[in-house]
Amino acid sequence: MRTTILEECGSTNAEAKDREKYSHGDAVIALNQAEGRGQRGRSWESAPGKNLTFSIVLEPVFLPAATQFLLSEAVALAVADTLSFYGLSPRIKWTNDIYVGDKKICGILLEHELKDGNVSRTVAGIGINVNQAEFPDWVPNPTSLLLETGIGRDVMEVFDVFDAKFTARYATLENGGGEAVSREYNDMLYRRGEPHRYFIPGRGEVEGTIERAEDNGELVVGIEGKLEKFLFREIEFIL
Ligand code: BTN
Repeated sequence: MRTTILEECGSTNAEAKDREKYSHGDAVIALNQAEGRGQRGRSWESAPGKNLTFSIVLEPVFLPAATQFLLSEAVALAVADTLSFYGLSPRIKWTNDIYVGDKKICGILLEHELKDGNVSRTVAGIGINVNQAEFPDWVPNPTSLLLETGIGRDVMEVFDVFDAKFTARYATLENGGGEAVSREYNDMLYRRGEPHRYFIPGRGEVEGTIERAEDNGELVVGIEGKLEKFLFREIEFIL
């Protein structure tokens, strides 16, 4: 990937959206991201100089809009591959948080632009907690590579590992290997096959067992002997 390293930046996702500056294969890395954006309009906390916060620009013109979830799966798998390289056993919490045990080590924010039924441009923003050991109280259940392994890492070295892992995952997707990508994503799913409590808005708490994620991104959960499908935000994990 071609990399642009910024000392300071509001949000690398906002920066990477600039079509004049960035195109397919570009990565924007911020050493200090002051206004990081998370999912659901939340902010993303990252102590200056401690973590790997970056966005990659992709133009996956081969990908029909209906299968855009495959891209999310490939990015999540590449982060999981990166953390496995450092000796961790990560899991992917649907849709694309990366967990170690019951703690979140990485958040991913994908923003797609569609054209003529295909994904024309995607900015994938990734925040991997690398060397941060203390987090503000409002961050729900954070962890980092340092906290998990006791070893500090050079964030650019972690980026290089991600770059290699993502290049391989993306090539699989581009070469028609979507089925393998979604199979491996499912194999890595956090809490898959185990009974746990979930919150369903408008319905309350239930016990459910994750069966799989579908290619369109829906989560299939067994509840009281029946399989039900949920879209993003239609079901929440209780940790
Ligand atoms: C989440 O779990 O809520 C998603 C967090 C995504 C954070 C990354 S850090 C780099 C990129 N730039 C942003 O503003 N957000 C993403």
